[in-house]
Amino acid sequence: MISIALENVSKSYQADTPVVKNVDLDIEPGEFVVIVGPSGCGKSTMMRMIAGLERISSGTLRIGGKVANDIPPQHRDIAMVFQNYALYPHLTVAENIGFSLEMRGVSKTERLRRVEVVAHLLQLSDYLHKKPKDLSGGQRQRVAMGRAIARDAKTYLMDEPLSNLDAELRSSMRAEIKHLHRQLKATMIYVTHDQVEALTLADRIAVMNKGVLLQFDTPEKIYDDPASLFVAGFIGSPPMNFIEANCKEGIVQTTKEGTRIPITCPPELEGEDVVVGLRPENGVLSAGDKRMAIEFRGEVMLIETTGSNRNIHAKTATGPLLIVAPRSAAIGLGDNVSIGYNTEDAFLFEKKTGKRIHLS
Ligand SMILES: Nc1ncnc2c1ncn2[C@@H]1O[C@H](COP(=O)(O)OP(=O)(O)O)[C@@H](O)[C@H]1O
Ligand SMILES: [Mg+2]
Repeated sequence: MISIALENVSKSYQADTPVVKNVDLDIEPGEFVVIVGPSGCGKSTMMRMIAGLERISSGTLRIGGKVANDIPPQHRDIAMVFQNYALYPHLTVAENIGFSLEMRGVSKTERLRRVEVVAHLLQLSDYLHKKPKDLSGGQRQRVAMGRAIARDAKTYLMDEPLSNLDAELRSSMRAEIKHLHRQLKATMIYVTHDQVEALTLADRIAVMNKGVLLQFDTPEKIYDDPASLFVAGFIGSPPMNFIEANCKEGIVQTTKEGTRIPITCPPELEGEDVVVGLRPENGVLSAGDKRMAIEFRGEVMLIETTGSNRNIHAKTATGPLLIVAPRSAAIGLGDNVSIGYNTEDAFLFEKKTGKRIHLS
């Protein structure tokens, strides 16, 4: 198992327009790190720099502690699964999996052995003699993965390997990839734009936006303690509610009727615009007698059933508010409701910078 470290790494394809900006990322040997962020934020560029397929404009990449900026890709001991995999249609599953080994001059006996091990790991043993056209989408994706892991590399990079699959298959493949990581005992870096995938797979998540690494931490920490407005809104489903407010006389104030947000503002934010963040799953639909510290009055505009719960969309004086309510809650369209939160559930952000303000 091997460590991968980026130190102040930047990348510009064109002069003066960096698409990856001063990224520091310290990945432990054997760790499963997920890089997540919206499309175009620089995820694939990061992977391609680590793999050696793209030059690093400035900064240092270390693999196993050694500076690797100029090591050619074939000497980095890294295997990569790409977003748009292409299998060789005229080759069988076994030949596809063994292809990179053959290119590397691995003996036929060893090749067959590796292919068998990998096929077993990916539950492809019964399909070794089939051609790609006779496989399902999920099986084909497993073959593509098998081709990468057949190499027995120290590090595996996976760039949105599940993005072409339907939802059900993605979820079962997620479990397989997690299992695979335990079996391979290798360092794994996985790229996705899907925050659910990031939360379920990662030992640690690196959240990126516009080429900047915003936060690098465990899934729990990212969810419980987001460092910025962007991270707070990106991680969690349904997404966090944001309410615009202002710091006046030391407390958060909205000018809207029927809203109470008794949160203290730090003195340096006096007069500044702020954003209050509240997770839908922490909201409580309260009856008249059950008053909570933070309160919104609103009207139910939409109810979505998610199976175990219901998503209640309310219209309040401060804007739309979404809360997750138990199925048993007796709520109907058009009802006037009161939505309550504990002050401990509130997140506060500076509007101008998006920076998280820790509440004391
Ligand atoms: N070969 C390239 N030449 C010029 N610009 C590129 C190239 N590859 C990517 N980009 C640009 O760099 C940015 C980051 O792209 P990419 O790393 O592919 O993002 P992601 O994988 O997060 O969607 C985008 O604005 C993209 O248009
Ligand atoms: Mg990409």
